[in-house]
Amino acid sequence: MVETVGLPAEIKDGERRVALDPSAIKMLVHSGFIPVIESGAGTGSGFSDKDYQLVGARIAGSAEEVWSADLVCKVKEPQQSEWAYFRPGLLLFAYLHLAAAPDLTNALVESGVEAFAFETLTWPKGHPLLAPMSEIAGRASAIIGAFHLAQGSGTLLGGASGVPPARVVVVGMGVAGTMAARGARGLDAEVTGVDVDLERLLEVHGQGIVTSTLYSNHHNVGEVIADADLVIGAALVTGAKAPVVVTRDQVESMRPGSVIVDLAIDQGGCIETSRPTSLSHPTFIEAGVVHYCVTNVPGQYPRTSSRALSAAVVPRLIDLAHDPHSDRLTGSVNVSQGKILHPAVAASLRGEYQTETD
Ligand SMILES: NC(=O)c1ccc[n+]([C@@H]2O[C@H](COP(=O)([O-])OP(=O)(O)OC[C@H]3O[C@@H](n4cnc5c(N)ncnc54)[C@H](O)[C@@H]3O)[C@@H](O)[C@H]2O)c1
Repeated sequence: MVETVGLPAEIKDGERRVALDPSAIKMLVHSGFIPVIESGAGTGSGFSDKDYQLVGARIAGSAEEVWSADLVCKVKEPQQSEWAYFRPGLLLFAYLHLAAAPDLTNALVESGVEAFAFETLTWPKGHPLLAPMSEIAGRASAIIGAFHLAQGSGTLLGGASGVPPARVVVVGMGVAGTMAARGARGLDAEVTGVDVDLERLLEVHGQGIVTSTLYSNHHNVGEVIADADLVIGAALVTGAKAPVVVTRDQVESMRPGSVIVDLAIDQGGCIETSRPTSLSHPTFIEAGVVHYCVTNVPGQYPRTSSRALSAAVVPRLIDLAHDPHSDRLTGSVNVSQGKILHPAVAASLRGEYQTETD
């Protein structure tokens, strides 16, 4: 039975979000739970310890105290120094992205943590706990891409009189891809939306979110990538390692100084040359192309992100605290009683760990 809910301060590089704002904490208290918040956890988002105390939270002086709660809710996947707090039966609710994190998966499996992921929850439809951060990361990706293009090839997204606009290719026209396309279109770039979902392509084209659409396969992608100034990667298959949509030879065909922003990097990346980077060291150059592959893009917009995340998470957190088997948590459980229960996570890590079906 859950009585205490812990909210640790985030320790991932550059991360300034907090999983719950004071308004969400008030809802938890009204539902009969005792929130225990690490001192300073909300500072990066503009919420003081006092703000949390006023709505009924207990402030803890150490991470250890917070992690001893019955249920721990946080933003990013536990970092290695936090794995020491894992224990059998601990309920964990956070972004986990386990398909790209075999070591963390192993630590969860070995320790007997009941691990529920935000990003694989699919009730009532879509990914309601991933969508708010995809919206923010998508919007940010157009700004980030435009910024790095100035330093790279020196191309302005909107072009100028007598000079055509930059060409942007967005791979995956879901929540993040749509916001990325809207941002780039807002700056007058030419935007091609790439997806395997033709219905989605019809929608985004009809709504003027992209200037053209393209069915995602290796041949088609190769044709548009060579001319792209900016490629934004946002393809997702729920829970699974990201599909590699843009291959290394296609990246090598891009002009020097072009830019890739691979948002799908949290699931392993949908561009073959991507590898995870951090907010303090966000880019690297590979094949002459600037790669921005930060796994926590919304962490640099903490005020907006924490409030958006909190609003999405708190109803499901209360469901989890009442009943981990609630239908409203469909798809969220990733690891339980030492087994990987999410089929797509299990398939992505097959061979490395025992799964429910083994
Ligand atoms: N890096 C970050 O900070 C950050 C932040 C938020 C979200 N994300 C990530 O962005 C990615 C996209 O998230 P979302 O919420 O937009 O997902 P979504 O489910 O809304 O959209 C994914 C889209 O990808 C498409 N797709 C699947 N396979 C494809 C393929 N082979 N080629 C082209 N398109 C394909 C789907 O049809 C769908 O339209 C996820 O990996 C998510 O975790 C990253």
